[in-house]
Amino acid sequence: MPLDIIVGAQWGDEGKGRITDLLSAEADMVARYSGGDNAGHTVTVDDQLFKLHLIPSGILHPHTTCHLGAGMVVNPARLLEEIDQLDSLGVDVSPTRLKISSAAHIITPAHIALDGARESQRSGDMLGTTRRGIGPAYSDKAARSGLRAGAMRQPEEFASQVQKHMQAAGEVLEKIYSLEPPDPADTASAYCEYAKRLRPYITDVGNLLAQALEEDKVVLAEGAQGTLLDLDHGTYPYVTSSHPTTPGALLGLGVGPKHLRRIIGVTKAFQTRVGSGPFPTEIFDETADRLRGTGENPWDEYGTTTGRPRRVGWLDGVLLRYAVRVNSFTELALTKLDILSGLDPLRLCVAYRHDDDLLSDLPDSPADLSPFTPEYEEHTGWQIDLSQAHYWGDLPPEAQDYVHRVEALTDLKVRLISIGPEREQVIRWDRDL
Ligand code: IMP
Repeated sequence: MPLDIIVGAQWGDEGKGRITDLLSAEADMVARYSGGDNAGHTVTVDDQLFKLHLIPSGILHPHTTCHLGAGMVVNPARLLEEIDQLDSLGVDVSPTRLKISSAAHIITPAHIALDGARESQRSGDMLGTTRRGIGPAYSDKAARSGLRAGAMRQPEEFASQVQKHMQAAGEVLEKIYSLEPPDPADTASAYCEYAKRLRPYITDVGNLLAQALEEDKVVLAEGAQGTLLDLDHGTYPYVTSSHPTTPGALLGLGVGPKHLRRIIGVTKAFQTRVGSGPFPTEIFDETADRLRGTGENPWDEYGTTTGRPRRVGWLDGVLLRYAVRVNSFTELALTKLDILSGLDPLRLCVAYRHDDDLLSDLPDSPADLSPFTPEYEEHTGWQIDLSQAHYWGDLPPEAQDYVHRVEALTDLKVRLISIGPEREQVIRWDRDL
């Protein structure tokens, strides 16, 4: 005991990286459980901005060990880039601190090419993927023809597996999509070199975590993406190909539920989405521009991985209640409350209207949200800058009311509130847990 899990409650980009960074200070091990370099976590420490795609944000705390779980898909070239970048900034990323599950799957240039080809073929009906090869790598995994990280322990044999995979995928690229495939032999020899560098990092992550939990170490599971992008429980087909939810965390790390302590749902104080798909509370007016920002600041609403402007809207309480149900959150972390400063009135979606019915919960999965119109409650905004607040009492009454309303809607406590990008710009209610 104990295992704490961080899960995105929306469509990703909720600010999970900084919540992980904060809680990593009190954890022994930090482990990512799903996705790949489609994720992007931005963490600011002492004016230094870190953009992490694969390595858990916990790496910035020197006392932790960090793990890439079995549920992940790993692009080895990108991982090595990230290792080298952190190393050049003086962060210890040696194999004593960083571990890769032997059961994680490996992304190749063929997966990336297929991701792009499938997106282009969907033309008007694109999913808006990050084109990082995520879907095709998980497809190979489900088809039981994927490449697993454990195979990198024998670089030459791994290289021949890669070559065969590249040849097979190359035929699809050529014959179905009329594309020039990447060269199988070149890719195989590059992957042989990646394997030689990465093999010291590969281990049985599930076993390491299980042992640590038995020894009463604190394990923090770091989420990527968010509940509404879950392959089964999100806004299918506009989802990712993994399970960024509480059950996905257990599966993706290879540990059972008996050690669970906190399940922290991270939600922004408003709603954003990158990529296509339904978004009932989306807005397009000047408030949207204000919420999105110009892109000049690292915290503005532009993708960390792709740089795409994010779609923005008001906080959707119906979808948040859904995320609470799917994940069994024990508490919420509310991020970016400071961004709402100066907006008046604030709107909060508390129900959906469908003909004459008012629904506070979804009647079915969130795949088709088109029949619903958001029912908003208006809240008085506040004008003061929140970025200097340290305690709950520093927040203006209007901001406290807004937080209380989110608590009432979800029947959960908001135990962490972020009010700026710096490490210390978080109001904490969770210390006495
Ligand atoms: P994929 O994961 O690249 O296949 O993309 C599938 C969908 O998930 C697209 O709408 C992406 O924009 C979205 N997505 C994937 N990763 C993230 C993330 O880290 N944050 C937000 N959206 C994401």
